[in-house]
Amino acid sequence: MTVILDGKSLRNKILEELKTKLEKYNKKPTLVVILVGDNPASKIYVNNKKKTAENLGINSIIIEYPENVEENVLLKKIEDLNNDDNVTAILVQLPLPKHIDKSKVINTISPQKDVDGFTPYNFGRLFEGEEPYVYPCTPKGIIRLLDEYNIKIAGQHAVIVGRSNIVGKPLSQMLLNRNATVTICHSHTKNLAEITKTADILISAVGGKIIGKNMLKQNSVVIDVGIFKDENGKTRGDIDFENVAPVASYISPVPGGVGPMTIAMLMSNTVELFEKNL
Ligand code: GUN
Repeated sequence: MTVILDGKSLRNKILEELKTKLEKYNKKPTLVVILVGDNPASKIYVNNKKKTAENLGINSIIIEYPENVEENVLLKKIEDLNNDDNVTAILVQLPLPKHIDKSKVINTISPQKDVDGFTPYNFGRLFEGEEPYVYPCTPKGIIRLLDEYNIKIAGQHAVIVGRSNIVGKPLSQMLLNRNATVTICHSHTKNLAEITKTADILISAVGGKIIGKNMLKQNSVVIDVGIFKDENGKTRGDIDFENVAPVASYISPVPGGVGPMTIAMLMSNTVELFEKNL
């Protein structure tokens, strides 16, 4: 029987725990999200983050800028937020417009307030196998989901499809730190299916339906990080769920798998930064 990895229930459990934890304090953490431009998906994500944060007792502030904002304006704002003792956590929603140097913007966030774990300090600590202030939210959510179901990581072959800074790269290091054998595949990979068929744990983070059942080893663990709307407006992931699920031992659905975990880990990271700073 295939087990569905239920990210929604686990998110609810984690949020309840965080809420209880925050009730002890006479002060609330503050999460500031910077949103540039009119990307509709980003707007939805950012509003979801705000709603979730406020339900927990986290102050949430969204600072919006128009698409054509100057880079210097963003850098100055981030510096002000770094210096503001009332600000616990800073998140710059990605993607940013092309005229902005994303790396420079991320680099300006103080590592102690970098709730995504994307700054060079936090990324570097992760790649050294040392503790960053916090781990990137989506990879952390995936590992938390695997742990919740007692899925073995050490010694397993984990194949990640996608090499983004948000998911693929940090996840590769987190799995490596847990003693998995890790392969990263991407758009230039030859014979993708040959590689994915050797995965004990297959993670796809591409954004397009690319993983079919002929690409899988029987009884593998399948994690879907992709999310997009198909031609009928239905929310889908990278994995052909209906056909892949019977072959897998565990599979994460879209929606209801990794997505809710990402939000839960953002809240968990905000609380971690808050507690480290008390
Ligand atoms: N855009 C898509 N995912 C993320 C994320 O995890 N963090 C940020 N900052 N932007 C994103």
